[in-house]
Amino acid sequence: MSEQLVFQPSAAAIARTHVTKDQYEQLYARSVSDPNGFWAEQAQRIDWMKSPTIIKNSTFQYPDVSIKWFEDGVLNISANCIDRHLVERGDQVAIIWEPDDPKAEAEYITYAKLHEKVSRCANVLKSLGVRKGDRVTIYLPMIPQAAYAMLACARIGAIHSVVFGGFSPDALAGRINDCDSKVVITADEGRRGGKTVPLKANVDKALQDAPGVEKVLVVHNTGADVLMKGSRDVWWHEAAAGVEPFCDPEPMNAEDPLFILYTSGSTGKPKGVLHTTGGYIVYASLTHQLNFDYRDGEVYWCTADVGWVTGHTYIVYGPLANGATTVMFEGIPSYPDVGRFWEVVDKHKINIFHTAPTAIRALMGAGTEWVEKADLSSLRLLGTVGEPINPEAWMWYHKNVGRGRCEIVDTWWQTETGGVLISPLPGAIATKPGSATLPFFGVEPIVLSPEGRLQEQTKAEGVLAIKESWPGQARTIWGDHSRFVSTYFETYKGYYFTGDGCRRDEDGYYWITGRVDDVLNISGHRLGTAEIESALVSHPKVSEAAVVGYPHDLKGQGIYCYVTLMSGETSDEALKIELRNWVRKEIGPIATPDLIQWAPGLPKTRSGKIMRRILRKVAENDFGSLGDTSTLADPAVVTDLIENRQNR
Ligand code: WT7
Repeated sequence: MSEQLVFQPSAAAIARTHVTKDQYEQLYARSVSDPNGFWAEQAQRIDWMKSPTIIKNSTFQYPDVSIKWFEDGVLNISANCIDRHLVERGDQVAIIWEPDDPKAEAEYITYAKLHEKVSRCANVLKSLGVRKGDRVTIYLPMIPQAAYAMLACARIGAIHSVVFGGFSPDALAGRINDCDSKVVITADEGRRGGKTVPLKANVDKALQDAPGVEKVLVVHNTGADVLMKGSRDVWWHEAAAGVEPFCDPEPMNAEDPLFILYTSGSTGKPKGVLHTTGGYIVYASLTHQLNFDYRDGEVYWCTADVGWVTGHTYIVYGPLANGATTVMFEGIPSYPDVGRFWEVVDKHKINIFHTAPTAIRALMGAGTEWVEKADLSSLRLLGTVGEPINPEAWMWYHKNVGRGRCEIVDTWWQTETGGVLISPLPGAIATKPGSATLPFFGVEPIVLSPEGRLQEQTKAEGVLAIKESWPGQARTIWGDHSRFVSTYFETYKGYYFTGDGCRRDEDGYYWITGRVDDVLNISGHRLGTAEIESALVSHPKVSEAAVVGYPHDLKGQGIYCYVTLMSGETSDEALKIELRNWVRKEIGPIATPDLIQWAPGLPKTRSGKIMRRILRKVAENDFGSLGDTSTLADPAVVTDLIENRQNR
């Protein structure tokens, strides 16, 4: 599809926009020339207990990287997301909860109700001994209690670490131990796509390897019979009934931690990305308002899970800070059928719908009849996030869901960035299918050659880095600041390195081409090849494993595993199934290998380094151009790999 395709903002979008094209250009220029002035003004959208006088105090200078925003400000995020709305919109719905089962009742939680629920949860946490600065792990399905728990932590100054409910007991234990959580919040079970997920049983298993946990707070969700361990396990509803329905929000310094969120890197175990208070909420609320051009009274639905950063910033914190009505959906796009998203849009009269390319591609594959059956006239804007969107999916979304009438907003960002960095502002920026377009205020993207040469001409290609700090940026990796510095600031000194490749076209538009490191993006979920490899080699029959990504029609990328077995093991179909299940058990279903190739040997250099470039090419079924193979220790290995390739 042509890069020349350009969609100007509709007349309706221009008429209502918060930011016009001219304003975007002027404000953007100001935001980078005078960040202190610009962000001091933007900070006023937040209620401070003490207004900040110091705005930006950040340096990317290696190795003394230090990121601080609004450092003498004092505030509480829960008060900003709830209390300050009570007078004007206490009776407005803050959260619409749509259950997995379409026949079950939706819940409509007003800001007044949210205040009560969060306050009670905060008091329960206090009664369990949680104090300011303590870590609380949240392992919940997409139920309102997930938002209550996050906001309750923020209310008392505890640091939450939400772990996606699809992660295995092992993965959960690792994340609990890394940040030393004394309290875990979970549910008896979760529901997803008509199935149940044994969350409490998973927690019980995880805690065998996480001895530091003292209390488990359990939501009575499906009513399943679960084991409650005497002094350790507490029912949420029982505890909440016994505490006061109000709790004073704790005054927090702008740089006090708000949450840790684990994400995959190219090496080692997942890292606990740390976000703090003041900069995060200024950035989350501003980007939520401007990227979606949110207006009071609109119903906004982001289909992500709170286990990922999108759920943090654009289901909970951004929308609630703006006094929005935000939808939490417990289910999946294909249950009970592939018309579910569109039914929910009509049911709740959604104005702004935000989802991932992988979901769009899957629904596109199901045909247009499901979309056509729906009314969808409430929709005004369609967002996409998590991975590059192919122009075909963009056009399908635009034509069939948006009926040619809705703005399409492709938002590029990362767990580490806290909020959107590159995205069109509807009503201001013309879109091109497949491009995330232009930077947000205060964001200075740069393109570098892989060797680190700054590409100054507009039209350029290379790796994507960012020149200066923005308020929503992660401050460190929990317990490992040197890993933070080496991961993001060492390769290209003086810049934040995103790990993504990109192209910038003649109009200065950014086209993200995907990761340039050993991080995979599977259906918009980040996984490190190293994590999957270490899960594979922990199986007793596996001697060695190498994992790479390959293009996958629905998932964006699929997981391709080369496995060398211990001598004497039989390489058959049964063992492939066993290994697939093994990885699911070790990490979780999202890490399930798509293709496994038995590899008697892996392509290595004479010094023993695996040549991943060759493995990627073979996995991509593009072995005509393997590049320089002269450093291979044993060239015959490659012939065997090509002959037995799995992706044909
Ligand atoms: C990686 C970050 C953004 C929050 C959810 C994912 C890829 C994300 C886009 C987009 C192209 C995208 C990048 C990025 N990515 N959004 N709109 N276009 N690529 O957060 O799990 O931290 O993953 O997702 O490769 O580095 P994450």
